Amino acid sequence: MNHKGGRSLAVLILAAGEGTRMESTIPKVLHPVGGRPMIFYTLRLANALKPASIGVVVGHESDRVKQSIQQLAKDCGITRPITFIHQRRALGSGNAVLEALPLLKKFKTAVVFCGDTPLLTYESGYGLAQSHEEQKGQVTLLTAKLGNPKGYGRVMRSPLGEVLRIIEESLASPKELSINEINSGAYCFEVETLQTALKEIGGKGPKKERFLTDVLELVRNKGGKINAYVSQNPEEVYGVNSRLQLSAAERILNRRMLERLMLSGVTVMDPASTHIDADVEIGQDTVIQPSTILRGKTVIGRNCAIGPFCYIENSQIGNDCEVRISQLTDCRILEKTAIGPFSHIRPESVIGPRARIGNFSEVKASRIGFGTKVNHLSYIGDAEIHEDVNIGAGTITCNYDGKTKHKTIIAAKAFVGSNVNLIAPVKIGRGAQIAAGSTVTEDVPDDALAIARARQVNKK
Ligand code: UD1
Ligand code: MG
Repeated sequence: MNHKGGRSLAVLILAAGEGTRMESTIPKVLHPVGGRPMIFYTLRLANALKPASIGVVVGHESDRVKQSIQQLAKDCGITRPITFIHQRRALGSGNAVLEALPLLKKFKTAVVFCGDTPLLTYESGYGLAQSHEEQKGQVTLLTAKLGNPKGYGRVMRSPLGEVLRIIEESLASPKELSINEINSGAYCFEVETLQTALKEIGGKGPKKERFLTDVLELVRNKGGKINAYVSQNPEEVYGVNSRLQLSAAERILNRRMLERLMLSGVTVMDPASTHIDADVEIGQDTVIQPSTILRGKTVIGRNCAIGPFCYIENSQIGNDCEVRISQLTDCRILEKTAIGPFSHIRPESVIGPRARIGNFSEVKASRIGFGTKVNHLSYIGDAEIHEDVNIGAGTITCNYDGKTKHKTIIAAKAFVGSNVNLIAPVKIGRGAQIAAGSTVTEDVPDDALAIARARQVNKK
């Protein structure tokens, strides 16, 4: 936001609540959604409004929440300075903002977001602040009209449409409960007005909580003007208080991600069974087949065929690759490589280009070179396999002696027959051949044929 004076806007995020309804030992705002802790989305939105300062009110499990926010700020390019405010006791959203007043007082205007509304978009956040500036009122709140307003504070308006106050669901009469315009929990305040009103609100309910929403009525009673900015897209205001709402938010974030990918030229055959985290990148003309999950910082190139039934996490896949019914974690697959069906590629593996890992093969911390094939039923661990090597069915790198892991090196154009055990550390020379059924315990020179198995005896 380009506010006059430049430094007149602060954004405050409320994240001190216990999140009791989550029934969890994890603080609510740290529950993952779309592959990120929930608070990430509010933090990113706050940063995008370009305030002079971002305040975050923490309380319940404050060290854990603070640490996670600091990490996110580093990883996700949050450029605005963050100040943490410690709410000593969870005495309600009004109390949380009261504790933040020493920070807010340095600014003319404050936007307040709840840390549990991860679906709010930049358009709504910006629209709220913009509308506040234009309307020149004391408070502007973001509202939405919901088919089912259950669980939210209701917006009470006068017959002329002016906002009078917000009634929390727990205190509303049946008639008030039938109001379908709800409070999103996002507001824009003139700080001076907010300060005066906050000091006057009293505690409610058995816990004597102070509701931030009570500020509105006080402001109005003093002749202040309250505006409502109605969200164009009601699903945005969805608050997450329970696991049911968490799964609904997950579904919406996923749908948004899939739509963005499809509009950028990726085919998603079955959005209903496809889950893609917010940071995943996919190139043009890649086809994602049903029942595929792409997580974390996965990057997939152009013209790939991914799925069905793939789980891929924090992995990079080059152009023109094929991955079928497989699990890949923290690995790199280089271009024109085919993986699967039923392959398991584990961390620190680099495979390809033009390599082939096939049925029921597992690869861990290994480099598999250009054009090399590991087609059937193999375990390749801590190995370096150069180009154009053929690994026969059932080959095992015996990399672990019970104490330490050892390396297997197989030079280019070697041919390893079926059912071979390679007892590491061991080195197979360039162009060497290993007879099927061998247990190789010593290095094999270039172009040699190694036979390490008992000679067959036919007895009668
Ligand atoms: C709140 C609003 C409600 C609105 C809804 C939108 C109040 C009183 N009610 O209800 O009108 O429709 O959000 O989602 O604000 N928090 C603190 N300290 C506290 C208590 C809460 O920081 O002592 C924080 C929470 O971490 C959360 C936010 O304030 O981020 C809102 O609290 P929550 O308990 O989720 O309120 P709702 O019942 O959702
Ligand atoms: Mg809430």
